[in-house]
Amino acid sequence: MNVLLIGSGGREHALAWSLSSSPLLTKLYSAPGNAGIAELAECVTLNVSDHDAVIAFCRGHDITFVVIGPEAPLVAGLGDALAEAGIRHFGPTKAAAQLEGSKGFTKDLCREFNIPTAAYGRFKDAASAKSYLATQTIPIVVKADGLAAGKGVIIATTREEAEAAIDACFAGVFGAAGAEVVIEDYMDGEEASFFALCDGNTALALATAQDHKRVGDGDTGLNTGGMGAYSPAPIMTPEMIERTMAEIIRPTVAGMRKRGTPFTGVLFAGLMITPAGPKLIEYNARFGDPETQVLLMRLKSDLLPALMATSDGTLDKITLKWASDVALTVVMAARGYPGTPLKGTEIKGLAAAAKVESVEIFHAGTKRDGGRLIADGGRVLNVTARGSSVAEAQAHAYAAVAQIDWPEGFCRKDIGWRAIAR
Ligand code: AMP
Ligand code: GLY
Repeated sequence: MNVLLIGSGGREHALAWSLSSSPLLTKLYSAPGNAGIAELAECVTLNVSDHDAVIAFCRGHDITFVVIGPEAPLVAGLGDALAEAGIRHFGPTKAAAQLEGSKGFTKDLCREFNIPTAAYGRFKDAASAKSYLATQTIPIVVKADGLAAGKGVIIATTREEAEAAIDACFAGVFGAAGAEVVIEDYMDGEEASFFALCDGNTALALATAQDHKRVGDGDTGLNTGGMGAYSPAPIMTPEMIERTMAEIIRPTVAGMRKRGTPFTGVLFAGLMITPAGPKLIEYNARFGDPETQVLLMRLKSDLLPALMATSDGTLDKITLKWASDVALTVVMAARGYPGTPLKGTEIKGLAAAAKVESVEIFHAGTKRDGGRLIADGGRVLNVTARGSSVAEAQAHAYAAVAQIDWPEGFCRKDIGWRAIAR
């Protein structure tokens, strides 16, 4: 069958890499894709916010299945438009994507269905937000309700900082995302990323991962989309996975179904593992980036039928096999990231890097200019490796990084430190 994959990041390159090995696949298209994806798929220019154009493309190219990578098209209702047109696809409806699109929506769902998360309030104006703040203890977390590309979360360690964050949200610093504000208790613990495919009824746990959100070594500096990740997350013991399924994931799936907005797709739970057990920080309605790169390196089963069963409501028939080793990815970013990244610089040495044992290089923001490979984004490459331990996977990944000749790029030197220090 022909498949259309929507997106252009490292997550989508990893999805393309995994889908390409499916015996069910005839041809893979990617919109817009990137230079790495172009080695596996035909990259096409499509305005994905023009739903009719996407539908017309699918009809014109005999597309059986559409995989939607990023959150923006999901929140904009591309899934609903494809469903109405009778085109099978992976990714939730607009209503169900509210789990990512509105933090207040998710907090209310947690309250209604008794899902462990931080205590909170929702506010539409600064005065009521500040009077709630006055009754709370510090540190406290102030969040813009909507999609803010990972930037709309402020962990305030003083009341002044919290008040400034409230003012910033309502002043429009995060655009429409900040028109409503969520204030929640600060949770202490270790974070983990948890993924489950959900078909509206059944939830199937995938592997676990941990990422590194800060730009600098030692988890310092500005927040980013993720500078590296590894799978599995040592803190996610079988017992912790079962608690997460029982206390967080299954109640969410049941709650969404009960509300008449069943969730189909991948539920990505950002967890805080506290002394009292797993608590939900937030949901994403899509695969994580760069977590997907490490998950898919360890997946031994065919991804395509699992994604199709998610969309068809037959996940109860699927079991997935995972390699028992470790995968680790190092993000190489363009200088300036997470601010304004330097674009248009040339990257060399990828062929040598790809030859390092058990390494796979996923492109996150690249394009071709004739024969040259050019950086075209903030996060540019995901140098991913497997090993029998986190330390071994890390050694392979950094051996490959050393082969890459890109003076305008940088990466963290300590991806995996927490797991290695355990
Ligand atoms: P979010 O975009 O909601 O995942 O938040 C981004 C990051 O902020 C998370 O990965 C956590 O590190 C941190 N964070 C968010 N909410 C809380 C909370 N209630 N307590 C502690 N840290 C939090
Ligand atoms: N790595 C975190 C995310 O995909 O949002």
